Amino acid sequence: MEDLLYKIDKQKMPQHIAIIMDGNGRWAEEQGQDRLYGHFHGVESVRNIVEGCAELQIEYLTLYAFSTENWDRPEEEVNGLMSLLVETIRKEVPTLNKNNIKLQVIGNLGMLPNSVYNELQEALEMTKTNTGLTLVMALSYSSRWEIINAVQKIVDDVKVGTIANATITNEIFEKYLCTKSIPDPELVIRTSGEYRISNFLLYQLAYAELYFTSTRWPEFRKNNLYEAIIDFQSRERRFGKTGNQIKEEQN
Ligand code: IPE
Ligand code: IPE
Ligand code: MG
Repeated sequence: MEDLLYKIDKQKMPQHIAIIMDGNGRWAEEQGQDRLYGHFHGVESVRNIVEGCAELQIEYLTLYAFSTENWDRPEEEVNGLMSLLVETIRKEVPTLNKNNIKLQVIGNLGMLPNSVYNELQEALEMTKTNTGLTLVMALSYSSRWEIINAVQKIVDDVKVGTIANATITNEIFEKYLCTKSIPDPELVIRTSGEYRISNFLLYQLAYAELYFTSTRWPEFRKNNLYEAIIDFQSRERRFGKTGNQIKEEQN
């Protein structure tokens, strides 16, 4: 693990890492346990990775914890996940404060049960002055919901005259997304061997580097994070230009 850490180039760190934490259910089933056992163990990975990102002085970490589509899972699993969420937030706030971590949330929070919503608001309030890592939890989140919601708000603002007709730019549009004031992720990690985005940050990931690993989320640890960062650092990010142009810009 020390070896991997040594290979990370501190000058080329991503400012924002986003993770699709997948594979809790299959991991549990492979252990002969029920799916909630997997979610429970997934929390241990969250702790480890949040700590790892804080140690590396990453500025933003976004964790996809629950999608809009996940509401369609069996009621027992949804309820179990919600209870785990309340319990985890309650338990982790002192650690977040100790490590100077600020919590943020993106998603359709109106769909969350009151207990989760209230616990979250309290945690946001209690960590809002922290200046280290910003931990963004994507909860009841889906990108299509976010985009449609943004369009709706823009239409409303055009109607009342807050913004002028026909002046929509990237900058204006981005102010209506849940991620306003959060830079786009440069590195996205998805665990558990699935190669898809599953309605996550579709607009914001336009030029993100994607990293897929077969490791199930409950087994994902700092050394797996280091591997992903090292892989990210070996890539040439061209943003539509040619490799030669990028090299010239770097000189
Ligand atoms: C990710 O693990 C956690 C959530 C989506 C809440 P899954 O629960 O999707 O686990 P698999 O993909 O079924 O193994
Ligand atoms: C994506 O995982 C959502 C989260 C990790 C919260 P899913 O397990 O819900 O995605 P699909 O259904 O396999 O695409
Ligand atoms: Mg899954």
